Amino acid sequence: MKKHIVLLPGDGIGPEVVAQGLKILRAVEKKFALSFSVEEALIGGAAIDASGDPLPPGTVEVCKKADAVLLGAVGGPKWDKGKQRPEAGLLGIRKALNLFANLRPATVFPELAELSALRADRVEKGVDILVVRELTGDVYFGRPAGEETRDGLRYAFNNMIYNEYEIRRIARVAFSAARARGKRVCSVDKSNVLNVSRLWRAVVEETHKDYPDVALSHMYVDNCAMQIIINPTQFDVIVTGNLFGDILSDEAAAVTGSLGMLPSASLSGAAEDGGPGLYEPVHGSAPDIAGQDKANPLAAILSVAMMLRMTFGLGEAAQTVEEAVRAVLREGRRSADLIGPGWKGEITGCAQFGDLVAAKI
Ligand code: IPM
Ligand code: MG
Repeated sequence: MKKHIVLLPGDGIGPEVVAQGLKILRAVEKKFALSFSVEEALIGGAAIDASGDPLPPGTVEVCKKADAVLLGAVGGPKWDKGKQRPEAGLLGIRKALNLFANLRPATVFPELAELSALRADRVEKGVDILVVRELTGDVYFGRPAGEETRDGLRYAFNNMIYNEYEIRRIARVAFSAARARGKRVCSVDKSNVLNVSRLWRAVVEETHKDYPDVALSHMYVDNCAMQIIINPTQFDVIVTGNLFGDILSDEAAAVTGSLGMLPSASLSGAAEDGGPGLYEPVHGSAPDIAGQDKANPLAAILSVAMMLRMTFGLGEAAQTVEEAVRAVLREGRRSADLIGPGWKGEITGCAQFGDLVAAKI
């Protein structure tokens, strides 16, 4: 059966890197005798320009019918002052597709170890963290939220709120993921201060009873932010809420030194209701280099690998893509963001990088 994929290129470098992801899908199709049908839809600033809406109803409709979605990036200064924000498109599609589980692996590629923001001795034993971030709850979506004036003072507020069902389902995703790797979960909260975190911790502990083979620890978010810098090697799976996960996943990415390399998957209860997974590079829209063929397409390409593995169960194809990426890196190919101190080689552009990886497949 033909597998149907929706591309949401979005803004900034999104269209350039998604084009390389598509190139890789086509190469995989050939190599493994598969067949993907592909359709494009609008999101973010591009959708605002075309229709005034960062998430047009038509986009939600086609995504719901897809097997998987590949997203580039949204946002840019062009829309910063407008009434409609491109980011609302991203938050909206997460909610509409019930993508509650965001998986963000932060790995140091041996080929790129010198790019880590940390001292070599802090990463030499390897960094391989999977941040499992809850994606459809928390202060991002909590109600009430708004702005008002009380007694002549302007107030603004958001509600940090979780129910036990939301916590349990993301905890399950984290424990299951840990089973397939280092068998350790560190749950991150702020339960010394926040009620919502105390519920989080209690429900994670209850859920843990079903996963006795996985070790569970807890960490306050401030300490975790510090530990990721001091000793990133200690972590296997980190599970946390939407806001803490947003921050810690960027931090973990910086530790690897190659934000331009990091893919992500956002999943619904796919096992239960078969909703599409959404795959996207962790990096943003990088408007400063958009349209100049300077972007690093590897995060988008590795997101395609995650899609092949997680949505389509094509482990071998996924591995082929990942190995192709590493082979190209081993040959000394580097985009501008992957250049370490003293590097003198030439810089590989976005489209050429895609061609090189495709050729290895
Ligand atoms: C991310 C981004 C988004 C978020 C923004 C663009 C809304 O930072 O995917 O991490 O905060 O979730
Ligand atoms: Mg973020």
